[in-house]
Amino acid sequence: MEKGYDVINLGQGNPDLPTPEAIVKELQDAAENPSNHKYSPFRGYSFLKQAAADFYKREYQVDLDPETEVAVLFGAKTGLVELSQCLLNRGDLALLPDPGYPDYMSGIALADAETFSMPLLKENAFLPDYQTIDAETWEQAKLLFLNYPNNPTSAIASKRFFDETVAYADKYHVCVVHDFAYGALGFDGEKPQSFLQSEGAKDVGVEIYTLSKTYNMAGWRVAFAVGNRSVIEQINLLQDHMYVSLFGGIQHAAAKALTGDQTAVSELVKNYQKRRDRFINRLRETGWEVDMPKGTFFTWLPVPVGFNSEEFADLLLEKAHVAVAPGNGFGESGEGYIRVGLLDREERLEEAADRIAKLNLFN
Ligand SMILES: Cc1ncc(COP(=O)(O)O)c(C=O)c1O
Repeated sequence: MEKGYDVINLGQGNPDLPTPEAIVKELQDAAENPSNHKYSPFRGYSFLKQAAADFYKREYQVDLDPETEVAVLFGAKTGLVELSQCLLNRGDLALLPDPGYPDYMSGIALADAETFSMPLLKENAFLPDYQTIDAETWEQAKLLFLNYPNNPTSAIASKRFFDETVAYADKYHVCVVHDFAYGALGFDGEKPQSFLQSEGAKDVGVEIYTLSKTYNMAGWRVAFAVGNRSVIEQINLLQDHMYVSLFGGIQHAAAKALTGDQTAVSELVKNYQKRRDRFINRLRETGWEVDMPKGTFFTWLPVPVGFNSEEFADLLLEKAHVAVAPGNGFGESGEGYIRVGLLDREERLEEAADRIAKLNLFN
């Protein structure tokens, strides 16, 4: 007979809380307006692009021209994959964070391009070490993917790091794609840095901002790319041939999210921080030496001696009924870690930590 276990699933990256009410209401109202039942304009409504520009000005003091420096996307995933189609030819080289979000690789593979892995190591605060990449590789590279706050390591990046990125990108003519999916999720009062806050960033790249995590809108599929005009134009050109644009109601709701009251965002950050504190502190009580994440809703935990990532993830599922993501699934340098999402109630996270404690692995 099969046994049904109560598995605590912390293996995914899907926000568990609902979209704020005011945003849902905006969609409801917009759905009743027949003007939204027609095709929306190619490249999206101006009011949404203006809202994205206003959001960047308010949050990051970055100026953007809404018509030429903002592209509306069907989620960050779509934009990230499109960018490789726009900018890479067969055999071109892209620099990739390892571990990293798997969809960068999907886009590169679809473009038949090559990758060069940049290991993100604890001793470098999970930032790539550009100095270890030889000049020949830099010369060959066309695209550089980055993502801070980082999935899966939960690291955040400093302005200094982004300044250095601009300098390398400028020197070697590499286009930077900064995936800012967790831009809103910085803890202990630290606001994550936008890549566009570095001088010259717009000359060398773009940033992708999704509403999925900031406003719990993962199912809505809405994001935007901002920055370098010629890259934005390439995305728009590709999209002209593939889509019209997002449903008008979603565009209204997205604009409301970006420019309306932001209390729900600060509440969300507080909530994740409380979950983080309770979960990590409980794990530390068991003797497990784990870092406090500085951003994202992930924790990146070293596996105990004697296990690899997969073995340890399997053990947690079998013996503790806690599902986690093995780190090697995000790239070779993720070996030796597991990723645990803070994506359930505090009590459930504490229960997950209690179940792990009972395995007595760390004394
Ligand atoms: C680093 C990173 N980038 C992009 C995405 C995808 O975001 P979207 O829902 O906008 O496609 C995710 C989602 O998990 C992510 O973790």
